[in-house]
Amino acid sequence: MPTENNALYRLSTTDEYHRQDLKSLGWELTVCNSLHPVDSPIRKVLKKNAPYGELLYDFLGAHISVARIARVLEIGGGYGYLMKDLLKMNPGFRASMLDISPPLLKKQEEALTGNDAVYYLNNALEMEEIFYKGFQLVIFNENLGDFPTLADVDPVILDDNTARSDEIAVMVRHFFTMYDLEKPSSRFNLNIGAMQMLEKVCGAGVPYIFIGEHSCEWKMPPDIKAYFDSSATGNPRRIRLKGHDEYTIKFSYLQAIADRLGYRTRRGPFADYIVPEMNDHLRWVLSSRGLYSDSEEIICQFIGDLYEYEYLILTRQ
Ligand SMILES: C[S@@+](CC[C@H](N)C(=O)[O-])C[C@H]1O[C@@H](n2cnc3c(N)ncnc32)[C@H](O)[C@@H]1O
Repeated sequence: MPTENNALYRLSTTDEYHRQDLKSLGWELTVCNSLHPVDSPIRKVLKKNAPYGELLYDFLGAHISVARIARVLEIGGGYGYLMKDLLKMNPGFRASMLDISPPLLKKQEEALTGNDAVYYLNNALEMEEIFYKGFQLVIFNENLGDFPTLADVDPVILDDNTARSDEIAVMVRHFFTMYDLEKPSSRFNLNIGAMQMLEKVCGAGVPYIFIGEHSCEWKMPPDIKAYFDSSATGNPRRIRLKGHDEYTIKFSYLQAIADRLGYRTRRGPFADYIVPEMNDHLRWVLSSRGLYSDSEEIICQFIGDLYEYEYLILTRQ
């Protein structure tokens, strides 16, 4: 696959990093991992003090028939905490884990010791569509931002011009035409890997799909926005991390793809299921911007993330 085309775009990938360099997620604190320690200060500012998987399971249960699901695939499961929680909530789940990173897949095996799970070491994008047909629920939690992204794309790529027809340009035009996506008028970043991945799992007809990731289109309710300075641009933002870059996700494009492929979509912020208890103490912590202690700083960051991260629950119609 070409990595660039006369400055029409630059392809950003993380495969090599995940396959060869990554040793742990230590420096990359996901929402799921930050809710894992029982004594975490952030658990205390929530309406329900519980780990991520428990909160997510209850929320999914309110929107889809989780009791009727058996075969569950989690892609990019990190340390395996989410699946561990889900299996505790529903011992009837038969878990499969697919990850590109050998050390992380091993950690997932350790976390799920005693459970009858199946493990696949591979790049999810390289698995055939037929593989996904075997599952009733596929979960992508905080990983689509790691999938290939086209950076700094020149909008002329969207013109149907054979001179610009390398494999990637053709794929970009396929997405914009097939799913009638709104075309940017200036240079943009495109979550091409996330879009390919979604097209594959929806194409496989998986009945339920869950996606959670850092969004580039988030919105905060006014009473929360008052405590934060940042805003969303609608263009996937580059986040520089150790050894690789990830990009925030343009959820409206994923929603349009799922919609066109016959899925009902429910979208919202993580705060829909990780619900903060907005009392005087939390308001004080947020208004002081967490300047007075490390745990208050962590709380401020976390509450911001609850609105900057979005989910999509997709149900095949
Ligand atoms: C940021 S971590 C998130 C871990 C976990 N889901 C969580 O929320 O804590 C990203 C995960 O996705 C995996 N990953 C990244 N790209 C992948 C790909 N192309 N195929 C499969 N797994 C991938 C990584 O190895 C890692 O386990």
